[in-house]
Amino acid sequence: MAEHLEIIDGSKAASKRGKSDACISSDECEQARLKVKVEKYAALLPQIQSVVEDESDQIANMANVAAMLHETFHFWWTGFYRVVTPQDSNGSPQLVLGPFQGPIACTRIKRGRGVCGTTWDKDETQVVPDVEQFPGHIACSSESKSEIVVPIHDKEGMVVAVLDIDSAELNTFDEVDKHWLEQIVELI
Ligand code: SME
Repeated sequence: MAEHLEIIDGSKAASKRGKSDACISSDECEQARLKVKVEKYAALLPQIQSVVEDESDQIANMANVAAMLHETFHFWWTGFYRVVTPQDSNGSPQLVLGPFQGPIACTRIKRGRGVCGTTWDKDETQVVPDVEQFPGHIACSSESKSEIVVPIHDKEGMVVAVLDIDSAELNTFDEVDKHWLEQIVELI
């Protein structure tokens, strides 16, 4: 477990740097894959910080963060849904599509619906290795196979948006992604 945590935050990856990247066993290959991922996140975090720190407009920051994550990892879809309350105040707040990179997507999601609505409702990151196994998953595209959704909070701790990332492969996301993406959304 200790080793697993070191891998997540990068200290293990740093200590292994310099070794050959070739892997033989599936465990070695998995460790190498995690190492590359951690190094990408560790390099990306300060870049995102420098891009967003002087900009107070959250939508502008979401747009750049979606672009930076998408360019770095080449995910299938990377974007944000914002909690929006209808102007006439008769309806309930919904998630509304925000800045994103990738194919067109569903525009509105109700609280508790799908992976995004569940993340909002539970206020908890959802890591979904196989979207077909997630009850109520909203299939904006049949290409999406796995997904991670991270809640974003305001200063009072209320969920104001979610970061949604979709992959065209199964089992793309894990505790490493959760660890780093939760830090990234804090910056927005
Ligand atoms: N699959 C998501 C909907 C959003 S799209 O994937 C971009 C969900 O179940 O909430």
